[in-house]
Amino acid sequence: MLLAENVSKNFNGLKALDKISLKIEKGEIFALIGPNGAGKTTFFNILTGIYPQTEGTIKFENRNTSGLKPHQIAKLGIARTFQNLRLFHQMTVLENILSGFFFHTKYTVLDSIFRTKRFKEIEDKNLKSAYYLSEFMGLENKINEIAKNLPYGEQKKLEVARALANKPKLLLLDEPTAGMNPNETQEMMELIKKIRENGIFVLLIEHDMRVVMNIPDRVIVFDYGEKIAEGTPDEIRNNEKVIAAYLGKTYDT
Ligand SMILES: Nc1ncnc2c1ncn2[C@@H]1O[C@H](COP(=O)(O)OP(=O)(O)OP(=O)(O)O)[C@@H](O)[C@H]1O
Ligand SMILES: [Mg+2]
Repeated sequence: MLLAENVSKNFNGLKALDKISLKIEKGEIFALIGPNGAGKTTFFNILTGIYPQTEGTIKFENRNTSGLKPHQIAKLGIARTFQNLRLFHQMTVLENILSGFFFHTKYTVLDSIFRTKRFKEIEDKNLKSAYYLSEFMGLENKINEIAKNLPYGEQKKLEVARALANKPKLLLLDEPTAGMNPNETQEMMELIKKIRENGIFVLLIEHDMRVVMNIPDRVIVFDYGEKIAEGTPDEIRNNEKVIAAYLGKTYDT
């Protein structure tokens, strides 16, 4: 489904990614972990076309994504959330979710100006889907709240709802539980499992070891832009290289 081969990224001489190769199969949940500055977000930025890789190739469903713009990659079925929330803070929950349908909306400007039948049909369908997604993420009672007034954990959920509106096949989550309390983290873990049950495969960047050890089928570890390990959560927990580079004393079994 997703194949990266020897992907590197240089920023003015800094090697943020160094020959990363990985393969993700349909239906899996993958976690990407590693110390701060290891290149995790950079990898997401390249996958979503925010900037090009310096070298290497990425294929999504056998299609080379090099040179594609973010909206073209979104259309292929890759959606993401950001490490720092990027909601429309002054807009409601509903409006934020609706904004996620943008890449799948097939009416023209003229359709919208003249409010053609087609425009109304699509608007109705989007509205229904948005209500469904708010329910799916447990935000149905907040649908008319202004995004910035939601508790932090719900803002994170809203970001996921908006990404889901893009009807992704692959969902990239950049630290979905960062800053959450244990209850919120637990809820987010359940939601991620539910997303996978709906046939969407998930690649998440995560620092919380409770999440890393429970949710993913496989874990990939980056350190200084290199992939230093890949395996099941158990294999990763016992990997000497990973313990030295990242886990150290932070994870006590
Ligand atoms: N647009 C950019 N321009 C220059 N340097 C960048 C850019 N984006 C990232 N970097 C650098 O690339 C390296 C990898 O950063 P990245 O944000 O990918 O790390 P990360 O693994 O996501 O870290 P964290 O866990 O702190 O989020 C860092 O040294 C960072 O300063
Ligand atoms: Mg990051």
